[in-house]
Amino acid sequence: LDRPRALSGIQPTAGSFHLGNYLGAVRQYVALQETHDAFYMVVDLHAITVPQDPKELRANTRLAAAQLLAAGLDPERCTLFVQSHVPEHAQLGWVMNCLTGFGEASRMTQFKDKSAKQGAGATTVGLFTYPILQVADILLYQADAVPVGEDQRQHIELTRDLAERFNGRFGDTFTLPAAHIVRETAKIYDLQDPSAKMSKSTANPKGLINLLDEPKVSAKKIKSAVTDTDTVIRFDPENKPGVSNLLTIYATLTGTGMADLEQKYEGKGYGALKTDLAEVMVDWVTPFRARTQEYLDDPETLDSVLAKGAEKARAVAAETLAQAYDKVGF
Ligand code: ADP
Ligand code: NA
Repeated sequence: LDRPRALSGIQPTAGSFHLGNYLGAVRQYVALQETHDAFYMVVDLHAITVPQDPKELRANTRLAAAQLLAAGLDPERCTLFVQSHVPEHAQLGWVMNCLTGFGEASRMTQFKDKSAKQGAGATTVGLFTYPILQVADILLYQADAVPVGEDQRQHIELTRDLAERFNGRFGDTFTLPAAHIVRETAKIYDLQDPSAKMSKSTANPKGLINLLDEPKVSAKKIKSAVTDTDTVIRFDPENKPGVSNLLTIYATLTGTGMADLEQKYEGKGYGALKTDLAEVMVDWVTPFRARTQEYLDDPETLDSVLAKGAEKARAVAAETLAQAYDKVGF
């Protein structure tokens, strides 16, 4: 097994994945199974940096795992686990906390954004140090690649800084993750406001496709997507953002090239494109929903997948932690 190691965390707070999550992130995770020794974890430790209802957190953690499996993560080809099942994350997190300068942590822009939204009174120390826990998440697996969005770049840089600092002070221990960030290959926009990214916090529920919604609800959203007053079906994000968004969704879901797609719709109207895409969407979400439901209806299978994943993850994490503890003087 000489493939590069990849590690990525998925928030359990998402409820149903939306189309942007799938096309922008989860689809990449599925692809990386083929080229990397990939570790994917549902990050419930990170979730409690903001208040969580215990029942909902537990349910959302399982729901996220079920959806990842339904989307194509194969426990035979990757390691899928729940972060809290591997105590080494918190243990190495503490060591990393003690290597991080207070000013250094204060410069994390994600913390500034998130704490501004929370309000100073509600912001926890956990939210402040969550980037440092993320450092531990990555270093525990000696990950080479971290498939995250652009907004996480600063945390990958912090990971490299702390790995170098630890290695310099205590001797070579950690792999520096490559500053290789998988970009959103497909950025999906709100169906009602194609200038905004599709997001679960959208002001426009009709612009958001939740993958676990009734397929006919999603089909209807596609059919009422905002386009433009022109009639030509052409990929031109600047001048035709609505149509281009539909084409992107169509192309990525079906694996069709954009030029082929434009040719297919030459001389046809927006109605034809929407009707076909609605059908593509229904054909994709129907089995996705069924597979997700199968995992939720069979908690023993899901538990066993996650238990095996945690065991595989711990084998790697425990070895790294033992080395780090020994170097530190524990
Ligand atoms: P949201 O923006 O709805 O809160 P998250 O921040 O939980 O979604 O994102 C989870 C993952 O999905 C991230 O890797 C993010 O880059 C990706 N993602 C979210 N929205 C989109 C989108 N509209 N297009 C492409 N990728 C997206
Ligand atoms: Na987001």
